[in-house]
Amino acid sequence: MAIYLSPSMLSIDFTKVGEQLAIVEQAGVPYIHLDVMDGVFVPNISFGIPVIKGIRKASNMVFDAHLMIVDPERYVEQFRDAGADIINFHVEATKDPAGCIAKIKESGAKVGITIKPKTPVETIKPYLKDVDMALVMTVEPGFGGQKFMADQVPKIAQLAAWKKEMGLSYDIEVDGGITLDNVREVLDAGANVIVAGSAVFGKEDIAGAAKGFMEIFKEYEAK
Ligand code: DX5
Ligand code: ZN
Repeated sequence: MAIYLSPSMLSIDFTKVGEQLAIVEQAGVPYIHLDVMDGVFVPNISFGIPVIKGIRKASNMVFDAHLMIVDPERYVEQFRDAGADIINFHVEATKDPAGCIAKIKESGAKVGITIKPKTPVETIKPYLKDVDMALVMTVEPGFGGQKFMADQVPKIAQLAAWKKEMGLSYDIEVDGGITLDNVREVLDAGANVIVAGSAVFGKEDIAGAAKGFMEIFKEYEAK
């Protein structure tokens, strides 16, 4: 199974966005993770549509948008037009997950459904047949640089088991507190899209950090 690194732009040096995006892209990183926060769904505000639109001109990476906003269906078209390739929405943030999935599909983007740590994984089971990705948060959403919650790993394993049982092919993304020291734990459980913010952009040697993850992925891809 192919495994993809999705470094979170939340931890980028915003005085050097173009430069640091080029560093990861040239290192062969396939995705860039874009954390959009509205100050309502989460107690923080990050960046939104104009920033994504701006960096789209500077990057050919897959834009993996993670919408931490209430009623995400309102903005699907704008994020798609800005350049999002994958749109992850939180199941807790909408009254109509099925409608949100339909809207994202209609836009032409891939659909990701996301759960916070306190949300049981069963909540998204009915939607798995209709999505391209399931995203398991391993920190409370809102901030980069938090500690990995190992108690969320069984959700990854459950999603991997359901994928097999139901003959589906969705990606399993994991986001929050991932480092070179704990990434094997989520890979062992069946994750194949790995978000890392501070463990990539927070490092002096950004390319080296990204390559460190991708070396580990190669071991798993060869299995
Ligand atoms: C948290 C965000 C994460 C975060 C990851 O709300 O969704 O993507 O930026 O950063 P690290 O890897 O530093 O936990
Ligand atoms: Zn995220």
